[in-house]
Amino acid sequence: MIVFHDMYHNEVNLSFTPDPFSTHPKHVWVICRYEDQWLLTNHSERGLEFPGGKVEIGETPDVAAVREVMEETGAKVSELEYIGQYKVIGKGKTIIKNIYFAEIETLLKKKDYFETKGPVLLKEIPLDTVKSDRRYSFIMKDDVLTQALDYVKKYLKTKKAL
Ligand code: GTP
Repeated sequence: MIVFHDMYHNEVNLSFTPDPFSTHPKHVWVICRYEDQWLLTNHSERGLEFPGGKVEIGETPDVAAVREVMEETGAKVSELEYIGQYKVIGKGKTIIKNIYFAEIETLLKKKDYFETKGPVLLKEIPLDTVKSDRRYSFIMKDDVLTQALDYVKKYLKTKKAL
C-alpha cells in the first residue's frame, strides 16, 4: 500500500490490488484512452480531470464507471480494466474510489455533459506542471495520478507486446 497526502492534507491510501479497502466502493475514477490520446472531462467547477463520480444505488462500480464516462465525455467504453483503489481519509468523511483504465471506441457529440463542459483530448498529461496549473482539478494533483498513469503505461506496453 502507498500512503501520501493530497493537496488538502488528507491522508490517501492507494493500492493496485483487488478491492484492498472495500468490495463496495462508492466512487469511481476512469483513466481513458482514445486514439492514442488521454480523454479527460472539463468539470465546470473543478477543471480538467479524468471522468468519474459516485456509484448509484443498485449499480456496480464497473457499471458506474462506464456510465460516468458516457455522461461526462460522450465516450463509449470498449474495454474496462480495474487497476486499483484508493481511500481518502477526509476531515468529515472517508471516501473509497475504484480506479479503472478504459479504452474508448467512439466519442459521441452530446447536448449535455452533466456537470461538465465535456470531453478534452490530450496527447500528454503535463505531470511536471499539473500541480500548479489552475486549469486542472484537485483530483489530478496528488500521487494517485502519477502512480495510476505509471501503472496504465506499463499495462499498455505489455498489451502491445502480446
Ligand atoms: P456529497 O456532499 O455527498 O455530494 O459529496 P461531496 O461534494 O462532499 O464530495 P465527495 O463525497 O465526492 O467527496 C468528499 C471529499 O472527499 C471531497 O471534498 C474531497 O476532499 C475528497 N475527495 C473526493 N474525491 C477525491 C479524489 O479523487 N481525490 C482526493 N484527494 N480527494 C477526494
